[in-house]
Amino acid sequence: MYSDRIRKADLIQKLMTAEQAALLIKDNMVVASSGFTKSGDSKAVLPALAERAKTDPLKITLMTGASLGYGTDGALASADALSLRLPFQVDPILRKAINAGKVMFIDQHLGETANLLKANNFPKIDIAVLEAAMIEDDGSIVLTTSVGNSAAFATLANEIIIEVNTAVDLSICGLHDIFYPGEYPNRSEIPIVAANTRIGRTTVHIDSNKIVGIVMTHKKDCPAEISEPDETTKAIAKHLVDFFTNEVRIGNLTKSLLPLQAGIGKVANAVLDGFREGDFENLTMYSEVLQDSTFDLLDSGKMTFVSGSSITVSEAYYDRIFNHFDNYKDKIVLRQQSISNAAEVIRRLGVITMNTALECDIYGNVNSTHVSGTHMMNGIGGSGDFARNAYLSVFLTSSTAKGGVISSIVPMVSHVDHTEHDVDVIVTEQGLADLRGLAPRQRAQVIIENCVHPDYRAQLKDYFERALERGGQTPHLLEEAFSWYTRLRETGTMKL
Ligand code: COA
Repeated sequence: MYSDRIRKADLIQKLMTAEQAALLIKDNMVVASSGFTKSGDSKAVLPALAERAKTDPLKITLMTGASLGYGTDGALASADALSLRLPFQVDPILRKAINAGKVMFIDQHLGETANLLKANNFPKIDIAVLEAAMIEDDGSIVLTTSVGNSAAFATLANEIIIEVNTAVDLSICGLHDIFYPGEYPNRSEIPIVAANTRIGRTTVHIDSNKIVGIVMTHKKDCPAEISEPDETTKAIAKHLVDFFTNEVRIGNLTKSLLPLQAGIGKVANAVLDGFREGDFENLTMYSEVLQDSTFDLLDSGKMTFVSGSSITVSEAYYDRIFNHFDNYKDKIVLRQQSISNAAEVIRRLGVITMNTALECDIYGNVNSTHVSGTHMMNGIGGSGDFARNAYLSVFLTSSTAKGGVISSIVPMVSHVDHTEHDVDVIVTEQGLADLRGLAPRQRAQVIIENCVHPDYRAQLKDYFERALERGGQTPHLLEEAFSWYTRLRETGTMKL
């Protein structure tokens, strides 16, 4: 029984139920779990822990690759079982608990977590829960639909629970590329010179003595909820495709562009979808999350290779991908997030990055995380890893939010995730602002002219003109800059 999935025979004796495994997690423990943008996460042990916590109160620190699926974060937050969470989340219940101050949240560049753990910036991991497709006869594991931080957790945790998920087809074996660059001060380079360079092994080494439990599961990943491109996202995509078409026309880029990275969410997905329309060929991606649109580009032949850290697609794409990994073996590699998001590689390859903003300001600073400056949405994710090191860093947003009462272009962003120095292009459905080579006063003019919704254009122009009278490299009316948020709170709209 299970011999095709657990090939190291002596480990069979470690089989247990999810409830038994959850009992190995004690109050105050630091728990690490696989899982990145809902894929390859713990589908049995963490949910069993949330259930147990309803009657047996306990609190843990939980770190992952990125977000978890199936409402697991929400179930843990509802059971009051989380004291600290890092480095990313997207769960509405957990978000509420974070914003109420009930759960501490460290919003971290996803490429940095493993390095910070190794540098002892956090307490030692007591126990790691890792999803695997199978355990090899040498005890190493084949991961599933995400790599995330699992390889680092396997090395750093005192104890390990493995969830072997039989719903993941064994054709996934060979998709992963696990590489250890060594430790400071003798760390090596990461020798990736193209999106398709393979540099490591296909399995994660595990010290079998650390394995304290194995739980069998049979559950596919929680599907991504991606809404179809609408008029706004299609317009954003068109502006961007036109921009790249022109870059090719004037000889700045070839038709293959440079490796692409696209962030999460409906805007980024729609924009990537837009690349099917343009006159591009042999595109590649060096990204983090592979979404629906990535597979459409691969299947259409427009894209030849993608490198990421997870596969997160909607249910309609399941059959096409999850039972046919063999079809994608020569087109996809999944890497640790410390490698997919490594500054060194992003710089070397010249990645074109496309991430989404909640809001941008007239000088090009970007807020991707904090609603009205205070309330956490999801987290910075990998957007900072990519934007800072990009060949060309693009930020996308619709020009208004919440039915038009919020302008996504504001005088001064209420929280800064990406500074003006890391932002080359801003695109809304209104148009595109190419900020390359422009000083702040010039950037403001281009952003106001091209990206702002007509309902707010005169208002922003007036702010900028009055700020100019005060002078400065980056003119502002500091007493007024945040008044847009006060007006929103007091009157329900940012409009004057
Ligand atoms: N103020 C308040 N709310 C805003 C807002 C603003 N300026 N701009 C957007 N929102 C709200 C939307 O109304 C929507 O709310 P809803 O869920 O209640 O409908 C929500 O934020 C998401 O915005 P949406 O327009 O649907 O865009 P999206 O799905 O593309 O998500 C981000 C946008 C910024 C939230 C998302 O991309 C994100 O979390 N980014 C940070 C992490 C990241 O970039 N990771 C990728 C690295 S690989």
